[in-house]
Amino acid sequence: MAGPVPELEDRAAACAERLHEADRVLLASHIDADGLTSAAVASSALERASVPFEVVFEKQLDEDAIARIARTDYETVWFTDFGSGQLDVITDYAADGGFTPVIADHHQPADADTEFHCNPLLEGLDGASELSGAGTTYLLARELAGDCVVRSPKGENHDEASGERRERESGPNPPTDPTMTDGGTVATTARADNRDLAALAVVGAVGDMQASSGELHGANAEIVADGVEAGVLEPTTDLALYGTQTRPLPKLLEYATDVRIPGISNDQRGAMRFLDGLDLELRDDAGEWRRWGDLTTAEQQTVASALVKHAISRGVPASKIDGLVGTSYQLTAEPAGTELRDASEFSTLLNATARYDRADVGLAVCLGDRGGALERARELLRSHRRNLSEGIDLVTTEGVTNEGHVQWFHAGDRIRETIVGIVAGMALGNEGIDRDRPILAFAAKSDEPDAVKVSGRGTHALVRQGLDLSVVLGEAARHVGGDGGGHDVAAGATVPAGREPDFLKRADDLVGEQLGQ
Ligand code: C5P
Ligand code: C5P
Ligand code: C5P
Ligand code: ZN
Repeated sequence: MAGPVPELEDRAAACAERLHEADRVLLASHIDADGLTSAAVASSALERASVPFEVVFEKQLDEDAIARIARTDYETVWFTDFGSGQLDVITDYAADGGFTPVIADHHQPADADTEFHCNPLLEGLDGASELSGAGTTYLLARELAGDCVVRSPKGENHDEASGERRERESGPNPPTDPTMTDGGTVATTARADNRDLAALAVVGAVGDMQASSGELHGANAEIVADGVEAGVLEPTTDLALYGTQTRPLPKLLEYATDVRIPGISNDQRGAMRFLDGLDLELRDDAGEWRRWGDLTTAEQQTVASALVKHAISRGVPASKIDGLVGTSYQLTAEPAGTELRDASEFSTLLNATARYDRADVGLAVCLGDRGGALERARELLRSHRRNLSEGIDLVTTEGVTNEGHVQWFHAGDRIRETIVGIVAGMALGNEGIDRDRPILAFAAKSDEPDAVKVSGRGTHALVRQGLDLSVVLGEAARHVGGDGGGHDVAAGATVPAGREPDFLKRADDLVGEQLGQ
């Protein structure tokens, strides 16, 4: 079957064929929005292909995690959104423990290879901006559906096996038919070839910030096209602000800090004054502010052009103003006005579950649970938002230390290690935290007192000048006996506690070399 990304078709087909031959599969995925959507795409594809499976999530695929996986009696392990970076360790354990790894990932591969390995970086595509873990997994899902046509329908033992095991490993049991949405809007053919799963793949890509240049491109755009054809996705030109579906208009504008607009950003009264000054009915009958997603296209255009005019009049440079508008991806089968409707809000909802040890909740939401799991996810989102905003306040008030080529802060145990990278990325550009150099953020690891987590975040402009944080964090961490990796623009590492100064020195030198300074 012709897949949407020809460069990866052979690899995806080989992986899918191997998965189809398996009696049962252990699916191991990463705990963030991209990892969760990867797991959901993979689960749906396996379920539809009648391959029994069990899901496990790992915060980081380190040697301990790989050893745990090897100790299970699974002969086939499907790694999604991680695996490439640890390929050397995986292949060692696989040989010893007698399992076959199948890898769908987009992180920088380690120096080793394996037979069933799908990764955009192996075929010259960019793993940070052109294809995510969920997108790579989606390519396998498309191929699995291709095989599926010649397979018999669901067998009985299959439901027993997957149902029981999933309950044991990942808490509440997701619905047994993991079709993401129903409502009769998704064409049966789209489901038969798994194209309806493109919506989740796009949520993963957006969650990995792959749309941060304004829209998805490269292989991601091909997946968007699949989703549009399948009737599950609709790209729309929108304000490039977070919360177009769920935030009341003044809050939407007030919290818009990626492009700072004087008199509106971080200024609730200013935002309201601006909106009240427009010749539009922006409050409903009860006097409550409407939301962007509720406005008509004409109303949206009026607000957007007034906003641009306001920004110009306050001296915001044209290059920044372009960043006010971008493409947003609507999941058309989801109800308007909910977090699930907009790919960006959906991905944040998922991070709010996975990064707090509740990946089971996020997975259930991806798989169609619109009851208890969605309610629980919304509660988690409220506390995630509080944590992000407290974290950003902490960094902004206490400031960062400038090391020459990098800037850094150490949060100790005041910011959770699983969100310290998100906080660092969101704080970049705030007062005193320049976007002209990358930021490194340290946080204590709750389960490992003698280790420290580091997250690095840069900008696409710095990447264009030569920055590659996956190299920086990897090399600097190994220099002090730790390990790390990730993407050019966002990477992470674990280092021994107390070695932060040596790590910083090495990282600073490396960034200096990369940027030619
Ligand atoms: O969690 P992740 O790093 O993928 O966040 C994606 C982006 O969503 C953030 O960088 C930020 O711009 C936005 N966001 C936000 N408010 C939140 C959560 C996320 O503006 N409460
Ligand atoms: O492991 P993974 O690739 O899924 O982690 C991606 C994380 O990196 C996202 O949660 C996001 O916060 C961050 N990121 C970023 N800017 C990018 C790409 C990723 O901050 N351009
Ligand atoms: O944890 P954080 O959000 O900072 O991770 C950013 C990126 O770095 C992710 O893609 C993650 O998978 C990667 N990472 C890694 N090795 C680590 C920590 C993070 O490859 N030890
Ligand atoms: Zn990812």
